[in-house]
Amino acid sequence: MRVRNQYRKSTPLCCNAGSRRSGSVVVWSLVGFLLMLHLYSLVSHNDEVAGEIRLHMRHHPLVRELEQVEEENIQIPPPRGRRSPRAAKRRPKRTTTLIDEFLDENSQLRHVFFPGMKTAIDPMKDARNDTFYYYPGRIWLDTEGNPIQAHGGGILHDERSGTYYWYGEYKDGPTYHAHKKGAARVDIIGVGCYSSNDLWTWKNEGLVLPAEETNETHDLHKSNVLERPKVIYNEKTGKYVMWMHIDDTNYTKASVGIAISDYPTGPFDYLHSTRPHGFEGRDMTIFKDDDGVAYLIYSSEDNSELHIGPLTEDYLDVTPIMRRILVGQHREAPALFKYRGTYYMITSGCTGWAPNEALAHAAESIMGPWETLGNPCIGGNKMFRLTTFFAQSTYVIPLPGFPGSFIFMADRWNPADLRDSRYIWLPMIVGGPADRPLEFNFGFPLWSRVSIYWHKKWRLPSRWRALQ
Ligand SMILES: *[C@@H]1O[C@H](CO)[C@@H](O)[C@H](O)[C@H]1NC(C)=O
Ligand SMILES: *[C@@H]1O[C@H](CO)[C@@H](O)[C@H](O)[C@H]1NC(C)=O
Ligand SMILES: *[C@@H]1O[C@H](CO)[C@@H](O)[C@H](O)[C@H]1NC(C)=O
Repeated sequence: MRVRNQYRKSTPLCCNAGSRRSGSVVVWSLVGFLLMLHLYSLVSHNDEVAGEIRLHMRHHPLVRELEQVEEENIQIPPPRGRRSPRAAKRRPKRTTTLIDEFLDENSQLRHVFFPGMKTAIDPMKDARNDTFYYYPGRIWLDTEGNPIQAHGGGILHDERSGTYYWYGEYKDGPTYHAHKKGAARVDIIGVGCYSSNDLWTWKNEGLVLPAEETNETHDLHKSNVLERPKVIYNEKTGKYVMWMHIDDTNYTKASVGIAISDYPTGPFDYLHSTRPHGFEGRDMTIFKDDDGVAYLIYSSEDNSELHIGPLTEDYLDVTPIMRRILVGQHREAPALFKYRGTYYMITSGCTGWAPNEALAHAAESIMGPWETLGNPCIGGNKMFRLTTFFAQSTYVIPLPGFPGSFIFMADRWNPADLRDSRYIWLPMIVGGPADRPLEFNFGFPLWSRVSIYWHKKWRLPSRWRALQ
């Protein structure tokens, strides 16, 4: 965007030079000179930016280790039933097949997507050379040895204690269909919370917002739906504020719920639910900007668009200001972050529990306009990239001390047994030119590329832990 500003600045100069009384040769020489100057400044500026990125990358331990592109080679077993070699050849694209395998509980590839308990990440075990390693997709145990239940989650970094809190849907109940055509679901159990200092060893802090067992008219009655809880801290009121998607069995309520607490570990008091700005609100997140203003972002109008608007100062309500963004693009699962004054967002498509392609978006102003940068996924294989590594975005964790480096958090949903859904955490780097040249940029990239790198196993650099 700095390139764009420079262009704007030089334009009036050209016009001033166009005095009719001057000889045309003088005018055109001047225009030519200014154009050259302008082009030179664009090119040198671009070099400078690229140089800066290169420098930044070279000294970046995370990038050096984790930008290595890791390929996956998964052999798809021949589909059961019709088995002639010719039938196999006529099979539709492999893409369909691998997603089918993923969604098929009885697939021979089940262990690839949902590895069993034997390979669980157990921070309490003497893991030796596995310490601090993330294994995206494996079962992840808390400090008591139970699988972490924090789906559709988000992270709060409590700066005063230096502790990370992971809030998410506690889904440790049986999956069922409320009615024939309904989506697979689990009763509300509540919002789970886990705490950590290293983002790897998580202590269960219990249900910080439990379901309502008896009162059937309550939003949190166990028969309803609670999704994507996110918590932010309000400096002015000293309260921890939780926003979440609240729905009924049929997903017709399409509302957001708000709860508050004096402590990050709750208990949270549930206040009420509302249809934000009078519109349907389904998948949502909240984002707290550097200036303390927080925003609600939610899928609306049958998930065909996203809405964004600032919250009130106490974070307990929306204000009347709202913009429609990514209109007609049918995106959900938004995860926002900011880097060097630019806002970025990762979203998924809308295909229920089935995985689909992620997109990265960027904006100079959080209220938009938002432009789409493309698919941020790198590595794995084509299907991994077209399915967000068989997962769906939920949150982006900035890594303090490592500018431009983030952890991308996603859910690998297991629709047959939602409690067994897995966490896909991967390194995400902002830097380098975006793939898709955008309008009005004169061939120079305005946005940085957002890259999420697939790794079977990876860990944060030890220097990051030393900073904690
Ligand atoms: C440590 O690494 C070695 C070599 O990479 C491997 O053979 C061994 O199984 C690992 N140990 C553990 C506890 O993971
Ligand atoms: C049940 O919940 C509703 C909605 O929150 C509330 O208005 C009502 O007072 C509750 N009833 C009881 C008996 O607690
Ligand atoms: C779900 O929808 C059906 C039909 O529209 C309705 O009869 C039923 O009461 C709804 N259930 C809930 C829990 O809202």
